[in-house]
Amino acid sequence: MLPNNVIKFAQANQDRFIEELKDLVRIPSISSSKDHVLDVHYCAEFLKDKMLEIGLERAEIFETQGHPVVYGEWLGAPEKPTIIIYGHYDVQPVDPIDLWDTPPFEPEIKDGRMYGRGTVDDKGQVYIHFKAIESWMKIHGSLPLNIKFIVEGEEEIGSENFEDFLKPNRKLLSSDYAVISDTPMIRKGYPSICYGLRGLAYFQINLRGSKQDLHSGSYGGSVINPIHVLSQMVTLLKDENGRILIPEFYEDVVDVSPGERKALASLPFDEESYREGIGVKKLFGESGYSILENIWCRPSLDVCGIWGGFTGEGSKTIIPSEAHAKVSMRLVPNQTPEKIAELFERYIHSITPPEVEITIDRMHGGMPYLADTNHQVFTTAIAALKKGFNADAVFIREGGSIPIVRTFQETLNIPCLLLGFGLPNENAHAPNEWLDLENFKNGILSCIYLYEEISNLTSY
Ligand code: BES
Ligand code: MN
Ligand code: MN
Repeated sequence: MLPNNVIKFAQANQDRFIEELKDLVRIPSISSSKDHVLDVHYCAEFLKDKMLEIGLERAEIFETQGHPVVYGEWLGAPEKPTIIIYGHYDVQPVDPIDLWDTPPFEPEIKDGRMYGRGTVDDKGQVYIHFKAIESWMKIHGSLPLNIKFIVEGEEEIGSENFEDFLKPNRKLLSSDYAVISDTPMIRKGYPSICYGLRGLAYFQINLRGSKQDLHSGSYGGSVINPIHVLSQMVTLLKDENGRILIPEFYEDVVDVSPGERKALASLPFDEESYREGIGVKKLFGESGYSILENIWCRPSLDVCGIWGGFTGEGSKTIIPSEAHAKVSMRLVPNQTPEKIAELFERYIHSITPPEVEITIDRMHGGMPYLADTNHQVFTTAIAALKKGFNADAVFIREGGSIPIVRTFQETLNIPCLLLGFGLPNENAHAPNEWLDLENFKNGILSCIYLYEEISNLTSY
């Protein structure tokens, strides 16, 4: 089937596609918030209806222990490959709300950008595929290949119930390739194919000294202060060269190969504008590695939050009874969240003084991912991006995590194409999130071409 008229249709309907994306962004589907459970459900229903509107033959909502999964399919090309497209409709919370220039769920277009929570992560990217499918269906009444489409509602909270959905539905989801659009391009004008993601291990440390806060005059000098203890422990997590000090932490890390080092160094990435963009005085990472190597190929450890004691107005003379910290680690091949959890917990216990009680909560985890870029599905992506963006694609890795990618690889045993249309500075998870509308349009064209390219593969 020829894509030419499909492309024309997409070009003629661009403005309508953008208006329709606004309707999706208006739904405050914040997965981590109890107050938004109904909005999340409504968003799932909304997408199910849209799946039928764009011409999928079947669309269904699968309830889980948490938020629902939306599934749709069109399987009218039995001689052709089947792809499974995955995205997420849940979004991150909006705080600090005061820093938004426009309300997060009232999408607004300014200078070729759509502002709003979820515009790039991941609603806009999900809609790129919806609109590519719609264009094929409107022109040909059919697709060049079979599509199964999964949109989940818990990606931003660790996809905890997704595996339970995947396992019994293995057959329903069986496909030849997975396609995910939930990553950024390295830079505007450089369509990017992502072949690696970091994994994640996330913990909360809780320290307790006394059974309740104490008067710091009556007791100061006789007991240990859990906030002091925690602060000292935090300084033992990393050294001044950015090396993580947990014993055996680097044992399974695969080092950057000379070939990859060369490839990464040739990418259109400028450390100075990266620094400027995030507004830091000076960059800091593990010494001996470039910035891209550090964020894509090396593990990292960060305290995401630390609290305890009195932080209100004025002063209150206490010795706090508790101190807490959240610690996240990004993992690279061949680290696993399970082993890192053991190493982390053992180390934390070994540096905890006997005067405090400690508990460590394991929060979400995810495996790192690295693809074999020699697979033929990557060749189809290069061709599709070339036509959609009128530019050569580059190969990148990313520092973020999409835990489900590994699950796909393992449960369905298929290669996964990470074809993302975001930009690094679109403020995902932050105030004033936006989506570049030119990338939205070129993304739709690229996906139209991609389906056609994959449909021409003869062995799959
Ligand atoms: N779309 C991101 C993943 C991502 C971010 C890929 C940046 C590449 C670069 C995804 O929505 C996300 O935020 N993932 C979380 C996963 C976590 C909650 C388990 C992440 O990386 O923090
Ligand atoms: Mn995402
Ligand atoms: Mn995200």
